[in-house]
Amino acid sequence: MRVKVGGEQRDVRTLWREKSTIRLIDQRILPHTFEITSLKDHRETAAAIRDMVMRGAGAIGVAAGYGMAQAALEAKDLSLNEFEAYFDAAAERLRKTRPTAANLFHAIERCLDAAKGVSVSDRVEAVVAEADAIAEEDLAASKRMGEYGNSLIEDGACILTHCNAGALAFIDYGTALSPIRSAHKQGKRVHVYVDETRPRCQGARLTAWEMEQEGIPYSLIVDNAAGYFMRKGEVDLVIVGADRVAANGDVANKIGTYEKAVVAKENGIPFYVAAPRMTFDLKCEKGDDVEIEERDHDEVRKMWGVDEKGNAMRILISEEKANVRNPAFDVTPSKYVTAFITEEGILEPPFKESIRKAFA
Ligand code: MRU
Repeated sequence: MRVKVGGEQRDVRTLWREKSTIRLIDQRILPHTFEITSLKDHRETAAAIRDMVMRGAGAIGVAAGYGMAQAALEAKDLSLNEFEAYFDAAAERLRKTRPTAANLFHAIERCLDAAKGVSVSDRVEAVVAEADAIAEEDLAASKRMGEYGNSLIEDGACILTHCNAGALAFIDYGTALSPIRSAHKQGKRVHVYVDETRPRCQGARLTAWEMEQEGIPYSLIVDNAAGYFMRKGEVDLVIVGADRVAANGDVANKIGTYEKAVVAKENGIPFYVAAPRMTFDLKCEKGDDVEIEERDHDEVRKMWGVDEKGNAMRILISEEKANVRNPAFDVTPSKYVTAFITEEGILEPPFKESIRKAFA
């Protein structure tokens, strides 16, 4: 993505590998500070996934693949048995970081499968190549979703999106925002309604920032306003991303997605889910089988931001010990999904068949 840093334009990916170090944009401090940070080993990478230094299903998946590559490189001088034990433990550590995004588990499994060579050095080489392939596939898939999804966007369209399913949620381009980027680049006039997405405000902090960087017209709205704009006829289509899509087309995505889908259907507005192969979990029969992450309760009690002097701070907005529930994702039943935008094309109902045909 093209970003303006200190008055200069710069092309940057969300995260990338430099030998055994991962370099990435620190998404915890955007949009107020743009900083590239480094993760030196797989333990730091696991901690960064858990603490959401990078987030979004695609970025988490690529980071997990790179984390496996780091683990393999860390173990390159061990015996074969020691290598296996170290590598399996690293996989387990990475698996435990965040439970919902399918991309993370697919990336770890792919790297475990790649580590089947005779010697340790063969295995290290194969795992590093596999991690790099995951990142490149992620990039190519995002680009193609942009091209396919663009066909669904008419000139003058108003599009609602939830959370951040943009370049920052992948290596670049994104899922839900990739078609919007393509439409804008092609000269179509679009306007994006950006849900703020409480509690971590990925919409307000990240999607709005991406729209600013690209010069795409948008309005930031509170989550509760989405229904208002849909009912008023100001939204032509909704596009969201996904963290896991079950074999029957049920979608786990950021908390609040379900409500948007129901209101969209009630108002006759198409509801599209943009997701690549790595987000589909064909072993998961239905949405209710997806593990939903419950995050720190202080995410709800407190809000992060900067004061008028730019000093970062976290302020308490509720009773200090307010009782909280904080599910990070919800499940949207497939009946609310108009179609999936994937790198294999637009998948329409019946989803069991179209998903199997595209990805089995
Ligand atoms: O908790 P996050 O920020 O990782 O959640 C991200 C989302 O829910 C995105 O919408 C989703 O990952 C799809 S875009 C890759």
